[in-house]
Amino acid sequence: MPQTLPRVVPAPPGKPIRPEASASQQTSEAIARNPSQWSATAAREVVRRYTELAPHWNDDRGGYRPVPLADALARGGLPAGRRCVEVGCGTGLLTPLLTEVWSEVVCVDLTPEMLRRSSAPWRLLGDASRLPLAAGFADAVILADVPLFADEVVRVLAPSGAVVWSNALGMDAPHHVPVETVCSALERASGGAPWSAVAAEAGWGLWAVLRPAA
Ligand SMILES: C[S@@+](CC[C@H](N)C(=O)[O-])C[C@H]1O[C@@H](n2cnc3c(N)ncnc32)[C@H](O)[C@@H]1O
Repeated sequence: MPQTLPRVVPAPPGKPIRPEASASQQTSEAIARNPSQWSATAAREVVRRYTELAPHWNDDRGGYRPVPLADALARGGLPAGRRCVEVGCGTGLLTPLLTEVWSEVVCVDLTPEMLRRSSAPWRLLGDASRLPLAAGFADAVILADVPLFADEVVRVLAPSGAVVWSNALGMDAPHHVPVETVCSALERASGGAPWSAVAAEAGWGLWAVLRPAA
């Protein structure tokens, strides 16, 4: 079970409803439990969907998305480090929060129309199921409303690194997966080695910082 911190950022009224959330959560949970569920067809559907959303992403969703990640960075007890990988960075809405913490932030996304809107200096067009990065590359892996490919996260993470998981609409977010499921997937990908997690709600969202247990 994660250690749950008290909420410090209130949830304002007016949380948006995403009708597609339930179906999308089932897919995200299936991938977290078994990454072989991912396919070229699934990847094409992601690109189709986010190509449509890209032109309006920042206008429609820019205000609330950074809230849980900012709280995670402030209170999650992240280890010091130099390099961070932002998986599924999208248009780069959250990247400025990361460059305040890590001096090298590598941003990866599958959808060209999302990625080209980011002004981050290091952007890679790539699939989170096969990250184009060397083993042990990152001191932190950021997963903000993206599917979890735990084997790849564990592969690119340095031994003393940490994973930041966040869902901007909390349990109603399309990519929401319970923190316990995230932790189990990381443990499975680490050959059964235990992980610990600290978590909290913030704004409309939630976050967790997960690390291999000492
Ligand atoms: C919900 S958006 C989140 C974007 C950004 N993290 C944010 O909070 O604004 C999900 C992003 O993940 C990307 N994505 C989905 N599946 C992916 C995969 N397998 N590999 C890389 N990126 C992926 C999509 O293209 C999209 O840009």
